[in-house]
Amino acid sequence: MTAHLELDFDLNHFHLENFDTQLANVCDQLATQGYVVLHDLFPQPMLQALLNGITGLRQEDFKAAAIGRQQDQQVIESIRRDKICWLNETMDFTQAYFAWSERLRLAVNRYLYLGLFDQEAMLAYYAPGAFYKRHLDAFRGQTNRKLTSILYLNPDWQPGHGGELLMYEGDEIEPFQVVEPRFGTMVIFLSERFPHEVSLSHHDRYSLTSWYRINDGMPGH
Ligand code: OGA
Ligand code: MN
Repeated sequence: MTAHLELDFDLNHFHLENFDTQLANVCDQLATQGYVVLHDLFPQPMLQALLNGITGLRQEDFKAAAIGRQQDQQVIESIRRDKICWLNETMDFTQAYFAWSERLRLAVNRYLYLGLFDQEAMLAYYAPGAFYKRHLDAFRGQTNRKLTSILYLNPDWQPGHGGELLMYEGDEIEPFQVVEPRFGTMVIFLSERFPHEVSLSHHDRYSLTSWYRINDGMPGH
């Protein structure tokens, strides 16, 4: 009996020490509604460093975004017009971002038991006139993407610039959530659950998307 109580105490102590209110809040909302929109997640200097790194990328680093998976990939301009660049930890400006997303992955695994194994991170650039029609990031049983996070990096975004993220529930015609792609706003959602689209953007628009994957041998992208 005594031993049991001591074990309980130790576990509680462990939880308290590692408790991160912000991540716990994210996990809570993912558990109850499947998505969360956050506005003040990252400190401004971190966002600024990220933006500086991104705007320092060369035109050649970007390629036209495709849809479909692996050898079936096709560039279809009537569906999406953004340009993309895959990011990785070896780029020095991405370090803080990857460190945070690793903490998110671990928190989600601990609280929601999603078993997320790794992540892939992609920067998308929408030139004026670009959009991305309604789609799902993952079809149940067809990819290993389980969780999507999108961080917006548009310091001067204003209503009228467009490029909002419209989120839908099932086949509904009207979005239940419109996310303005403001500097530092992040949206996180279950990849298989919410169809979404990027409305026509009239302005340069950057978004940094991560897909967190389970390890089930399915191809990712
Ligand atoms: C995507 C996507 C949304 C956004 O790349 O799959 O839906 O707001 N992006 O950039
Ligand atoms: Mn998407």
